[in-house]
Amino acid sequence: PIVPVILSGGSGTRLWPMSRPERPKQMLALTAEETMLQLTAKRATGERFASPIVVANARHADMVDAQLGHVEAAAQALILEPMGRNTAPAIALAAIAAGDKSPLLVMPSDHVIADVDAFHAAIHAALPLVEDGWLVTFGIDPLAPETGYGWIHVGEEISGGVHRVAKFVEKPPRDKAEAMLAAGDHAWNGGIFLFRADIYLGALSVHAPDMLAACQQAMDKAVRDGTRIYPDKDAFAASPDDSIDYAVMEKAERVAVVPVSMGWSDLGSWDALHEISDRDDAGNAHAGPGEVIAIDTANCLVRTDGARVALVGVEDLIVVASGNDILILPRGRSQEVKKLIEKMKASE
Ligand code: GDD
Ligand code: MG
Repeated sequence: PIVPVILSGGSGTRLWPMSRPERPKQMLALTAEETMLQLTAKRATGERFASPIVVANARHADMVDAQLGHVEAAAQALILEPMGRNTAPAIALAAIAAGDKSPLLVMPSDHVIADVDAFHAAIHAALPLVEDGWLVTFGIDPLAPETGYGWIHVGEEISGGVHRVAKFVEKPPRDKAEAMLAAGDHAWNGGIFLFRADIYLGALSVHAPDMLAACQQAMDKAVRDGTRIYPDKDAFAASPDDSIDYAVMEKAERVAVVPVSMGWSDLGSWDALHEISDRDDAGNAHAGPGEVIAIDTANCLVRTDGARVALVGVEDLIVVASGNDILILPRGRSQEVKKLIEKMKASE
């Protein structure tokens, strides 16, 4: 079976004030009654999938277990990192735990996929090449010259819907992103990967041997407690900090992409949430549990976890009330929440 590997180490700062270090975005119910983590786990259940390996920060252990237990998708292994070292080492820990030729389906815990059937079809299309040793990623039709994503120059078709990656460009500068968007033969990297555990570790041994050695040692010396695995802190700390995109995908040979249209969003900002939310006739997306009262209001996103929020005569606003914090900004500027966080940190 395919082993789902769920990455849950990010902090999702751009969704402040709902997303916070102690309860980051993947642990929140932003698009449905279930949290992003629960939706991710449920997306990879059924007879073709084993139970997941989850890689998360140690401080979220109880929250992860509680959330997955609730949707009957308990982890076969919960790998608890003492600190974040980005995605390449996190995936290495999971690949070492899986320990064989199992195909790993690596999924960020904080993405939206509206069309799960299309996702499963893309996985199915990729499996023969994965078994043959290819590293596979999923390509999303690009909508804008995004500099925060990886870009894939889609090459010739290898077999049924699976293409060679002509070139993988992680987080390009703006002018390059514009050129790739205009070229028409590029896709965004969806950040979801499918490959054999042994093939990934083999790629690391070539392109990031220090990382592989550190992760191997961290797992050799790991403390185990039921399904929980605590990699050795000192060994893991010695690992270089790098993403799978820079450390492996940009460098490896035999990299393939499955272009797939599946209603994907990485839900990176409040604007992204407004775009994918159900909206009323005036274009407003309002969500509680706090009460929202609005008169003559259009195209706003309002989220409140307790405080009552009342609006009159405003348009194109994002209003988020959480605990003692209130965020207000015009739609279109939600990337700047990151700057706000930096400013708050600086004044602490
Ligand atoms: N366990 C663990 N440990 N998980 C991590 C860590 C870590 O140290 N760092 C990041 N993650 C998780 C995040 O929570 C997220 O779910 C996923 O790994 C991807 O990390 P991001 O930090 O969100 O990556 P990104 O958005 O900059 O870029 C990636 O995703 C884009 C699509 O959303 C890349 O793969 C891009 O190429 C891609 O376009
Ligand atoms: Mg991301």
